[in-house]
Amino acid sequence: MQFPLRSSPQKDSALKNTEPIIKFENFSFYYGKKKVISDVSFPVYKNSITALIGPSGCGKTTVLKSINLLYRENPEARAEGKIIFEGVNILNDKYDVVELRKKIGMVFQKPNPFPGSIYDNVVFGPRIFGVKNRKKLNDICERSLKLAALWDEVKNDLRKSALNLSGGQQQRLCIARTLALEPEVILLDEPASALDPFSTLKIEDLMYQLKNNYTILIVTHNMQQAARISDYVAFLFAGEDMIARLIEFGKSNEVFIKPVKKLTEDYIVGRLG
Ligand SMILES: Nc1ncnc2c1ncn2[C@@H]1O[C@H](COP(=O)(O)OP(=O)(O)O)[C@@H](O)[C@H]1O
Ligand SMILES: [Mg+2]
Repeated sequence: MQFPLRSSPQKDSALKNTEPIIKFENFSFYYGKKKVISDVSFPVYKNSITALIGPSGCGKTTVLKSINLLYRENPEARAEGKIIFEGVNILNDKYDVVELRKKIGMVFQKPNPFPGSIYDNVVFGPRIFGVKNRKKLNDICERSLKLAALWDEVKNDLRKSALNLSGGQQQRLCIARTLALEPEVILLDEPASALDPFSTLKIEDLMYQLKNNYTILIVTHNMQQAARISDYVAFLFAGEDMIARLIEFGKSNEVFIKPVKKLTEDYIVGRLG
């Protein structure tokens, strides 16, 4: 198998970092009585990019929604096992959801800016958390847009509607909105699947820059993309019983070149799903 793997000092340092910021421990998930994920355990290492891969319906979005407790909005949904974040099991009922979502931001498949100005979109989170000072909000807006590699394109249009931006710009705006809260972890659910190849590369470059200061967990269907940008990869797969299990987890430069499991190899070369 030949995938272009970027190699850089950043990548090497990410691989040397052995401290997980998140740990899934015997994690299972149910929608009503239906079990959809069974007994998944894997670490998410700090300041690295972990790619979640697997065919449609194997629970990738559910895994992301579990990490920032978004699934709680669905009364039918139930998680079992542990997700340890900074040493604490966040599935514990007492965990403060609002605080958690500040530390763990999520970017969705379809860019979802709300119908307001670019500025209002970016500072939405900080305002919710009580930041009122205009100068402070301006600084947050500029810093977040710069981090999301969008500042130069929009700095003269901050008061214009976010909905006038292109799809790729809207997705970077959603990333800026997440960064405005200074999260520890950024979850991205197929963030480039609705974008053209050029915008996709911009998002990939951006993630590559961001991993120096953030931990990134990204769902992607694109194996080339996963191989290009990720340090670690987790492969989920649901068999005939339709219950997803973790088939393989490892360093991307090992899994994409020499997967341990036959099923992993079949998936990454395109023989499955
Ligand atoms: N709200 C829901 N209610 C019931 N079943 C759901 C719901 N959301 C997802 N599922 C089921 O859970 C499984 C995993 O879905 P999902 O996490 O969206 O997978 P992926 O993101 O890998 O495509 C699928 O079988 C899907 O049909
Ligand atoms: Mg999904």
